[in-house]
Amino acid sequence: MQPLEIKKGIYWVGAVDYVNRDFHGYALSPQGTTYNAYVLLDEKNVLFDTVKHGFSEVMLGRLSHVIAPEKIDYLVINHVELDHAGALPQIIKACKPETIFCSPMGQKAIEAHFKSWQEWPLKVVKTGNSISIGKRSIHFVETRMLHWPDSMFSYIPEDKLLISNDAFGQNIASSERFADEISRTELEHAMTEYYYNIVLPYSQQVLKTLALAEELKLDINMIAPDHGLIFRGKDEVRYVLEAYRRFAEQKPQKRALIVYDTMWHSTAKMAYAIAEGLNAEGVPVRIMDMKGNHHSAVMTELARSGLVVVGSPTHNNGILPHMAAMLTYMKGLRPQNRIGGAFGSFGWSGECLKILTEHLEGMGFELPVEPFKTKYVPDAGALEQCMEMGKALARALKVKCGG
Ligand code: FEO
Repeated sequence: MQPLEIKKGIYWVGAVDYVNRDFHGYALSPQGTTYNAYVLLDEKNVLFDTVKHGFSEVMLGRLSHVIAPEKIDYLVINHVELDHAGALPQIIKACKPETIFCSPMGQKAIEAHFKSWQEWPLKVVKTGNSISIGKRSIHFVETRMLHWPDSMFSYIPEDKLLISNDAFGQNIASSERFADEISRTELEHAMTEYYYNIVLPYSQQVLKTLALAEELKLDINMIAPDHGLIFRGKDEVRYVLEAYRRFAEQKPQKRALIVYDTMWHSTAKMAYAIAEGLNAEGVPVRIMDMKGNHHSAVMTELARSGLVVVGSPTHNNGILPHMAAMLTYMKGLRPQNRIGGAFGSFGWSGECLKILTEHLEGMGFELPVEPFKTKYVPDAGALEQCMEMGKALARALKVKCGG
């Protein structure tokens, strides 16, 4: 339970959760995650954020190697979601801070989550507020809906350090603490997975926050998020800011994703025939069936796919439940700038295309090609039509991507 000094007098004192695979109750965290917390020693000793319930002893053990917990003067709560605030009662009891700083919406969230809040010395801070803690100062920036109403950044200009809470996080559980210690491929995958399952609906807020950071002329050479690895040095900071701009802008990419579920493999055969058509037009494709893929993994793949083709047979006048769940999850995450396509087999009533199309339209996808269904088992002619559908979708995607 050793802390790690990330800048002079500033330490990581969080916890690594190697076990959790169910991040926030809805997203896959294949490696587990981390709950990062930081302590800064100055004339006032300041703790930034805490950890999930069940990890308070780990955090306090690590903190005790830096400073006796009762010597903490200030606690900053950048976000009240329970992976960062679940241990608050235990940490506050151990540290007894003289002041606890939170955003206006943070106070409301604290009141709703914790019975003992009235005994806590809360002080509300807003964007533009700052406090002096000795040689350093802390500047607060509210980042509402990035990704909760209460979310906030803490910026320490003297150290060019931004403590960014959930933003710029990744679900990585490892002994490394810095992003430059793992491969870019692994890092980029973890960042994408996190963004596309947690942050995506708030992409407009991301762009606004990036603009605000420029407007405030925040000079940053380290970004320390509350999940995963820390970005140190100007190049790393530039890399993660640009990655977030790219994620948020969602420019169309010349790559396709086919997501389907199937009963007796008729819809599966159609999926593979559509993929042949896409390939024939030079568009790379990934096929993901919903019996073998988690909805989080599908969203991660969607990040690089300008075209999303969805398939399901008709089942009980609807679509198969895994596809219904997938499309509901996808819709909530509000992907933008995509082309869509729909296909499926049916036996008698045949509602699948109507339902799939409604889902895609509900997400604002462009549907440049007529959806296609086939009765019971696709014959050679039906598979040929699927292939043609793939080709037509590929051509439409290429136009959208500018050729
Ligand atoms: Fe990592 Fe929104 O909690």
